[in-house]
Parts: sequence; C-alpha cells; structure tokens
Amino acid sequence: MKLKKKLMTVLEEITGVGKLENLSTNTLLNFTPPIKCNKSKFTKTFFSNTANSNPYELSQKIDRDFDYKIFKIESKLLRKYRAFYKVEDDSNRKKHFPSCQAWIGLHHFTLQTPYSLIHDALMHLKDISVNRIIDVGAGYGRVGLVVDAFFPNAEFIGYEVVKERVNEGNRVFDKHDMNNCSLIKANVLSADFDLPQAEIYFIYDFGEKEDIHQLLLSLAHIAKSNKTYLIANGEYVNELLKGMNSLWKKSSFDSEKGEMKIYFSNEA
Ligand SMILES: C[S@@+](CC[C@H](N)C(=O)[O-])C[C@H]1O[C@@H](n2cnc3c(N)ncnc32)[C@H](O)[C@@H]1O
Repeated sequence: MKLKKKLMTVLEEITGVGKLENLSTNTLLNFTPPIKCNKSKFTKTFFSNTANSNPYELSQKIDRDFDYKIFKIESKLLRKYRAFYKVEDDSNRKKHFPSCQAWIGLHHFTLQTPYSLIHDALMHLKDISVNRIIDVGAGYGRVGLVVDAFFPNAEFIGYEVVKERVNEGNRVFDKHDMNNCSLIKANVLSADFDLPQAEIYFIYDFGEKEDIHQLLLSLAHIAKSNKTYLIANGEYVNELLKGMNSLWKKSSFDSEKGEMKIYFSNEA
C-alpha cells in the first residue's frame, strides 16, 4: 500500500497529469507517460524554492533555463520609451509608453512575480477543476509556465499590452511545446476588451490603482455567477479587494511576506 502511494506521487510529479488515485497498482506499473512527458524537466518542483534561495535569483535562473531574453528586451524598450518613473519634458524626445502603465524601466526582478510564489499559490489550488486560467497583464507569461506544470490540460491565456513581451512569451511557449498557453496582445482597459470566463484569474498590480479597479469591476460580473478564484499579488489589488469583501472571500493562503493572497467568490 505504501509502495503504491509512493509510486502514485512520483508519477503525478514527473508527468504532471494530476491525481492518479483511482488507478490499480497494475495500471500504475504499466503506466504509459502521456504526451506532456517530454517536458519532464519542468515539473511542479522545478518552480518551488526548496533550497530557500532568493526567489528573484532563482527566477532569473529559471528564466535562463527557458531561454527568455528578458533583460535584452527590457533594455531595448527603455531605449524606445521614457522610464515610467521619469516625468516627460522637452529635454528628451522619448515619451512614456502610450495608453497605459507598462512599467518600462522597472527592474526586471520586480516586473514579474517570482516563480516560487506562483508555485505556492497554484499548489494551494491544485485540487480544483480548471479549464482556463487568465493572467491580466501577463508580462512575459511566467504564470503560464507554472500553470502548464500544475494543470497540463487547462488553457492559459495571458493578456499583455506590450507587443515585445507578448512575442517573447509566445516564442518561449512554442519552444517548449506549451500549446495550451498563449499570450494575447490587448489593452484590458479598452472599451472593446471582453474578459473571458475562467476558473482562476491572476493579477499582479498591472497598472495604476484606478486601472485595476476598472478591471475588478468587470471581473465582478463573472465572479458573481461562477465560482471564481483570484490570485492577487501586490498592494493595490489587495487593498481594492478589501473593499469588495461581500463578493470576494479570502482563502487561508498567505505568502511569506504577505504580498500575495487568494480570494474566491461564492457560487451563484
Ligand atoms: C507587474 S507586471 C505583471 C506580470 C505578470 N502578471 C507576473 O505576475 O509575472 C504587469 C504587466 O501588465 C501589463 N499591463 C499594464 N497595463 C495593462 C493593460 N491595460 N492591458 C494589458 N496589459 C497591461 C504591463 O505591460 C506589465 O507587463
């Protein structure tokens, strides 16, 4: 019995196919790894911080393993646009990124959520049934890579306004055969943007507080009639959600530094 449990845990971990509980020992011994197994390097544990190292340095190492060229692209963006923290003046022709806050010039360590934090949040939700996960303001799509390890049969969509980030994220998804993951170039604040339904949403302070508020109002329409989970990283989004506590309940998850929380909406 103990051996069966161990075998199941190992198979679940290396294949990323989810729970194998109802299979007999014989089936487990003859288990044929499904299509996803060629990505065996990128299992759930690949993203966890078991060595308790610096989450930002660990993320940089993982980015390298995936062949992301983030530093190069961000430097290029900074040559094209004025950094978000500098005011526009006539001394320089460079303008801020148009239409919304794209955080150009933010250190690449803090632009995206560390993999280990995404891992911990998805670990908390690993047993729920998921068809689709959406990251609003997805950067280079790091969330998708971890989603692929936890929910290999779910669809991941990341909406991102900066085309260079979208192109790089999709290049990395393609390179690793992550056909279930995609980044879509969109401004989530524009009048013609329609937020699709998903079981899990991920928001890391993608813009100014009022931008996030606008998006949360659209999300509320979905969450009122469907049980929805929201992984919220950052000060703005968490502050806004406190004021929406009749819809969003806080789960028991809390990240080590308290910057990330998970909320869920009641079923309709
Ligand atoms: C703080 S980063 C978070 C990246 C990713 N979600 C993560 O946690 O790793 C926010 C991203 O949202 C994008 N963004 C900001 N405003 C947006 C908008 N209105 N529509 C789509 N993307 C937006 C920015 O360009 C930036 O890449």
